[in-house]
Amino acid sequence: MKHFLNEDSESLREKVVILDFGGQYSMLIARRIREAGVFCELLPFNAPWAKIAEHYPAGIILSGSPASVNQVNAPRCDPAVYKSGIPILGICYGMHLMAKELGGEVEKGGRSEFGRTSFKIVEKEPLFGDQIFALDDSCNAWMSHQDEVSELPTGFTVLAKTENGTVAAIGDHQRKIYGVQFHPEVFHTPGGNNVLKKFLFSVCQCSKNWTPGSFVNDAVKKIRETVGEGEKVVCALSGGVDSSVVAFLLDRALGERAVFIFVDHGLLRLKEAEQVVKLYKKGLKGEFILIDARRRFLEALAGVTDPEEKRQIIGAEFINVFKGQALAMGDITYLAQGTIYPDVIESGSIQGAAVIKSHHNVGGLPEELGFDLVEPLRELFKDEVRLVGAELGLPDKILKRQPFPGPGLAVRIIGDITAAKLEIVKLADAIFRKEIQRAGADEGLWQYFAVLTDVQVVGVKGDDRHYGPVIALRAVASEDAMTADWARVPFDVLEKASLRITGEIPEVARVVYDITSKPPGTIEWE
Ligand code: XMP
Repeated sequence: MKHFLNEDSESLREKVVILDFGGQYSMLIARRIREAGVFCELLPFNAPWAKIAEHYPAGIILSGSPASVNQVNAPRCDPAVYKSGIPILGICYGMHLMAKELGGEVEKGGRSEFGRTSFKIVEKEPLFGDQIFALDDSCNAWMSHQDEVSELPTGFTVLAKTENGTVAAIGDHQRKIYGVQFHPEVFHTPGGNNVLKKFLFSVCQCSKNWTPGSFVNDAVKKIRETVGEGEKVVCALSGGVDSSVVAFLLDRALGERAVFIFVDHGLLRLKEAEQVVKLYKKGLKGEFILIDARRRFLEALAGVTDPEEKRQIIGAEFINVFKGQALAMGDITYLAQGTIYPDVIESGSIQGAAVIKSHHNVGGLPEELGFDLVEPLRELFKDEVRLVGAELGLPDKILKRQPFPGPGLAVRIIGDITAAKLEIVKLADAIFRKEIQRAGADEGLWQYFAVLTDVQVVGVKGDDRHYGPVIALRAVASEDAMTADWARVPFDVLEKASLRITGEIPEVARVVYDITSKPPGTIEWE
């Protein structure tokens, strides 16, 4: 099959396909490849060849997996993959699988290798002939395996070996099929990115054409093709990065045929709703509808203390408000949403994780609204959404916004929600954020915010006894919110924040700092 450039795309986008065997780093492989300037898609490991071929891949990567190739029902890909003539890179399990399927042997090795392992390069080209690896033929890499290739398939040679003598990389130059035992995609494999790039550019001959600019051109073209002449799209704005980028893409593609609805539920941070309104009103050509639903949400939430119930109420209320407005407009055909790639990937892994929080997203609207969907960010990772936003000229204030839960401050007030409590948490949160930023302590932080607890304590303000609530400050470092470390915010920043919060918010009696990581905690308190 011929190396292919997608004809109906102005940017001539090339693609690499990653077959996902459920390895913990599959998504990371995809991100690394995109960062290298090549577009890629993750497909389930068992995607039939016809499905894979639809993508006209320039290369195929077989990911790692928690499985062993020798177990019963080991996950396999369509064998047509090996006969396609398309370059292949197998990573860990991916290497074992192709070695076995092509006639080699894989065995449980005498010594498992987990973590940092060093290996020696036997042949530099085509995977290793680059900077870091070339400096010294002995390299470190991140491994996590028990199985190893014990016999090579015909046509293959060993390209690298670990200190234990285990095969670390193999290749068949004729068929352009390669395999590495280590994980080139992880941070702990220095030079791993170079291996991926060598595969992309030397073996697959990809060109570097995946850029935010090319995405914007493609997306604008696609939106115009989808939304016919004279048809209109409605878009729910939340103030977050994703919906803002969708809005500005729609604006570029459709101008006045895009209509925007911002439901102010009163649960955003201090002055945030005003900022959002200002930015959108100024920046968008289409009609901008602001619905002040603050009282309606407060009434619906009155007396509710259960976190999940709060989420349900806010989600349902949002849909009702939005629906009422959107349907009343009458002439709308499409609904635009900020769905991103991690939400749509159909992973090869079996997922049975317990639901800890329902994570209802305000802005995530149900199908029964009856509109056709436009989801221009479906193929982007979060960091790519930010790059596209920058390309569209969105300000840092939006692009660098911390992740913020859809139900907003409702899950940062423990217990029932009142207007007075909202005011307290908004002020405390604004002070904490300001002090962190002023000290430049936000570097590397994923989120930092204040929580209003439902604990009342005794304090002394002036010469008087004071009885009031406790504010908890939370700051975490994280890569993806799946795990998080409590952040070592400097004491003097905490002290300043504490002094200001107790001094400027009369009700607050005490400030505490949360030193719980995730797990066992979660990032939000509810
Ligand atoms: P947890 O608290 O589960 O949060 O550790 C992980 C990340 O998700 C955010 N979060 C939410 N986001 N709707 C959202 O859109 C929600 O209901 C919700 N709850 C938590 C949280 O801020 C963190 O970034």
